[in-house]
Amino acid sequence: MSKVVITFGTFDVFHVGHLRILQKARSLGDHLVVGVSTDELTFKKKKRLPVYSQEERYEIISSLKSVDECFFEERLEDKGSYITRYSAGLLVMGDDWEGRFDEYSDLCEIVYLKRTKSISTTAIIEKIRS
Ligand code: CTP
Repeated sequence: MSKVVITFGTFDVFHVGHLRILQKARSLGDHLVVGVSTDELTFKKKKRLPVYSQEERYEIISSLKSVDECFFEERLEDKGSYITRYSAGLLVMGDDWEGRFDEYSDLCEIVYLKRTKSISTTAIIEKIRS
């Protein structure tokens, strides 16, 4: 049976840390589904609006070789229903979220991957600003 992997994120100002986690997530299964956080959800999570709109971020993520399917993630609390809807066998998140989604371990396996060092959307925005 094929293994569906699911992951979530804003993926604003797309960078190599985003690329690597998506490639790694895809390598852990047969089909990668990505929940792209909406602008509204991103504002709730990060207290700022993304630079790229949700439609632009969706377009970028869904065009990647490692990504098979995308949807808009509207609410953090709906992770359980997204996991069930896509029949995901594995949830992958970066280790900045370590332990935060363990409550879903009865629905699927969970893996927290090491983040790529020294890069983030926030750092890029700050570098351009200064
Ligand atoms: N990620 C990663 N390595 C990085 C940055 C992000 O593996 N250097 C992962 C995160 O752990 C998450 C996914 O990419 O699973 C999407 O992260 P996101 O929050 O959209 O990106 P950040 O660069 O962390 O954004 P910000 O600086 O706005 O928090």
